[in-house]
This record gives sequence, C-alpha cells and structure tokens, in this order.
Amino acid sequence: MPGTNVGSPIVTLTPAPTLDRTYFVHNLQSGGVNRADEVKEELAGKGINVSRGLHLAGIKAPGVVPIGNSDPGVLARTGSDGMLLPLWVEGTLRVSTTIVEYDGPTTKVNESPRPLSEQDWNAIIDLTERTVRENDAKWLVVAGALPACKTTGKFVDLEPVFERMAALGVRVALDTSGEPLNTWARKGLASIIKPNAEELASAVGRTLYSVGDVIDAARELCEHGIETVLASLGADGMIAVTKDREWAARTAPVKVINTVGAGDATLAGFLSAITSNPIASGSDDYGLGYDVPLGVSTAVQWGAIAVTQPTSGLSSIDGLPAAILNPTPDRTAALEEPAVFTK
Ligand SMILES: Nc1ncnc2c1ncn2[C@@H]1O[C@H](COP(=O)(O)OP(=O)(O)OP(=O)(O)O)[C@@H](O)[C@H]1O
Ligand SMILES: [Mg+2]
Repeated sequence: MPGTNVGSPIVTLTPAPTLDRTYFVHNLQSGGVNRADEVKEELAGKGINVSRGLHLAGIKAPGVVPIGNSDPGVLARTGSDGMLLPLWVEGTLRVSTTIVEYDGPTTKVNESPRPLSEQDWNAIIDLTERTVRENDAKWLVVAGALPACKTTGKFVDLEPVFERMAALGVRVALDTSGEPLNTWARKGLASIIKPNAEELASAVGRTLYSVGDVIDAARELCEHGIETVLASLGADGMIAVTKDREWAARTAPVKVINTVGAGDATLAGFLSAITSNPIASGSDDYGLGYDVPLGVSTAVQWGAIAVTQPTSGLSSIDGLPAAILNPTPDRTAALEEPAVFTK
C-alpha cells in the first residue's frame, strides 16, 4: 500500500468506484455471439478522475476507494496503485461495460454500486480522515454515485464525513447527482458543489431556461449554506455563484471527442488553481478565502481540454485554451437547451 503522507492539499473520496471494461468489436450482432478484437480495463470513478487530473498538475492527491478484495491485483493492473488508497471490502468491484463498435455506436451497461456494510462505510470514513490528517489537506472531494447501506437500504450517510472535516477545518467539494445531490445541496454542509445544468434543475425542482435561472437556482443553494456553486453548462462553460457574486467563464469552441469526465476535469482545475494560488494579503478574497474567478477560469480550461481527449480521465493539461471570464454574466441569455426538471 502506498504511503499516504504526501503533503497534498486535496484528498479525494470515491464511494462507489467501478472497473470500466471496454470491448472493441467489428459488426456487433445484437443477440449473437461476438468476439472482441481488444479489451481495455480502467479503474474509474469521479473522485479517481479528479485525483488523476490533479496529479498532472503536480498535486499528488490521494484517492480513497472501497475495492472488492477478490481482485487484489486490480490497482497494479490498472496502473492506479501509486495514487489510490484502497479500503478492501468483501466481494468484487462493480463493472461498467462499454462495447465500442468500430465506426458504429457505443453501448454501455453499468452495474449499480454494490451496497456497503455499515462497518465498511465507517472504515472508509476513518481512512479518509486519516489521509486528510496525514496530508494536512485543506480540501476533500467526495465525488460520484453513493452506494446504499446494506442494513438500512438507504444511501450511505455523508453527515459524519462533513462533521469530521468541519472539525479539522477542511472544506468539502461534492460532485454527485440524483437524490444524494438534492439532499446534500439543501443541507448546505458542502463548501462547493459542481452540478451540471440538469443536476442543478433537479436540486431546485424547476426547469432552467436562461443564465439568470441558473444564477438564481445556484444562489438558492448558497442560501442553504453552500459557499460556491459551480454550475457547468457543457459548451457554454461554467457559472460560479457565491452568496453575493457570480462569474461566467468559457473558452473558445474546441474540437469535441469525448465529453465524459469533463465535469471531473473542471473540479480538478478549480481546486488546483485555488490551492496553488493563495489570495495575496490585502486582495479581495470574495468572503471565502479562495480565488473563485481564477478557479472558474481554470476550471473551463481543464474542461475544454478534457473534451478534446478520447479518455474519460484527463491525459494531459498541456496547451490549455485561454479562458474568457465575465464578471457580469448576461442573465437574459438562453441556455442552449433548457435544463428540464422532471419529477
Ligand atoms: N463542447 C464543449 N466545448 C468546450 N468545452 C466543453 C464542452 N463540453 C464541456 N465542456 C467543458 O467541460 C465542462 C464540464 O462539462 P459538463 O457541463 O458537460 O459536465 P458534466 O455533465 O458534469 O460532465 P461529467 O459528469 O461527465 O464529468 C464545461 O463547464 C466546459 O468547461
Ligand atoms: Mg458531472
């Protein structure tokens, strides 16, 4: 197991990682027997993606992950053993299967997160806290789907994570979706959340049509206690909203190859910028102590370069496109597509 004391200002936690297995086939026969020309495996998950991105910027952010103990070689096999801190749990890792047909459509079948025992979830929280302490980290990223608790059948409880981090003076950035996002966005215990437009619409329970709607929805979550809402809007970039300020950032259009994981790249970019560039004394700290406009500018640069790369994790941050920052976003501008709220 790698040493955890690497002095990183950021630690990540991925509560439900997955083994991404991709089969490359010619002429897929649905309902028939197919032979794969090539099979690739990658350990995936949103927190893992954030750690990978941060490593590219020289921030060796350890990633805490529960992993099934029936496949002990999985970290070495997927080249993740220097970066991830496993909490071995009984069983196997869930698998997300992708079938890529050359010059054809891509089919995905994702397994749901495996339920975790209460004991394992507590052990994950302990390992996370220990890693944060050993690194003297200032930020914890909690990202991706949440597993259910085996005993209660409900999503694992994030409250102890928030409580322990608050006791250490560590801020939490949360990137999840569905019911867990809707719940935790309203409890306001996270410092940062990074919803995309649909996730934000779901968190406030209404459809968003314009930039003004996005700002109002994000501010509503700030009223619940979130410090900064990073609303990502795909090709339209990102709007960062705090209790009393907002900034829009975007890049010039780029050639899009794969948008999966772009949101994770933006969170890594934001945190890399704010932890590497502390606010100079006497400068405006936006009431938060970190540089939100610099963060959101870097976030869209990382997001834009991510979509130009074929992998879901960032493979390089060389040649970042320039960011365009707007401190007075046009509230009347329509979103490319409304972010629809469906019950
Ligand atoms: N077509 C695009 N052109 C330029 N930048 C893009 C494009 N799509 C996404 N981005 C960048 O990536 C960021 C994140 O994209 P998006 O809003 O799709 O995140 P997401 O839905 O959370 O993605 P995921 O959850 O798959 O990581 C955007 O804020 C933007 O900076
Ligand atoms: Mg996302």
